[in-house]
Amino acid sequence: MSIDIAVVPVAGIGTRLLPATKSQPKEMLPVGRKPVVQYVAEELAHSGIRRLLFITGARKTTIENHFDEDSELITHLRDSGREHELAELDFERQDMQYFYTRQRRQLGLGHAVLCAAPLIGDQPFVVALGDSIIGMHAQSDIVGRMLDEFEKARADVVVAFEEVPESDVEKYGIAKPRGPVGDVFELESVVEKPVRGEQPSNLAVAARYVFSPKIFDFLRQTKRGKGNEIQLTDAMHEVLQAGGKGIGLRLKSGEQRFDIGNYQSYFRAFTEFALADDKEGDGLRDYLKELLRET
Ligand code: G1P
Repeated sequence: MSIDIAVVPVAGIGTRLLPATKSQPKEMLPVGRKPVVQYVAEELAHSGIRRLLFITGARKTTIENHFDEDSELITHLRDSGREHELAELDFERQDMQYFYTRQRRQLGLGHAVLCAAPLIGDQPFVVALGDSIIGMHAQSDIVGRMLDEFEKARADVVVAFEEVPESDVEKYGIAKPRGPVGDVFELESVVEKPVRGEQPSNLAVAARYVFSPKIFDFLRQTKRGKGNEIQLTDAMHEVLQAGGKGIGLRLKSGEQRFDIGNYQSYFRAFTEFALADDKEGDGLRDYLKELLRET
């Protein structure tokens, strides 16, 4: 069985990033040269995903435009003798098919994933949140490693985790491991945004999941939870409670997760990516050194 389809939820309103996200999706915010969601698509392509199903919403049409081939732009670059800039559009031709469906009501991440059920049907699938980048150059193969573990363990739920400081456990789904925690470990449960001090570990859900289609049965029954939303974490908990097999994978060093869901981590991500830019990074580094000396 080879899994080549990923669901990418991008329907959230992005209230933590207002006013920047009032009329544009947070997934289209630039990090260095590219919008966040382009890194996500490139990372998934690198792990063998060939079909992306975006769960979108109102205000999100620029995501669809971004992945279309823009013949007008191509002609314009050719006619004005700037063919060398066409390389910037290579991602348009990557080996990937794009599909879109709308989450028509803002009922949370669990509900967004459930919107994929009629199209995914009875097959396992990947979920990659459209507001998180893994590693600097979209070269992480975390999803490929998760798919290997999914098949090896005949799992129902596989989740990527990243260790976070205690002050951050309230922002994420947190792993409750069963037994010792290595690079790959067994998952007893996941708890959505626990109160600080009550977290079962410091391992935070890092925006990449693999599910067997069983998750849909549980999502259909999941009641509203934290934030009055239908939580994917709650459905995962129920799958595991009912005897489903759960596996956690830890991100490796060099696979840092950049969460473009709040300004502090967005600013950090932008700075790191800009500093790593081939052409502009060195100039920016000199400028920042100068700037910091003055303050
Ligand atoms: C969602 C999930 C949470 C996960 C996080 C990862 O939260 O509910 O479990 O850790 O994404 O980015 P949100 O960021 O939508 O509040």
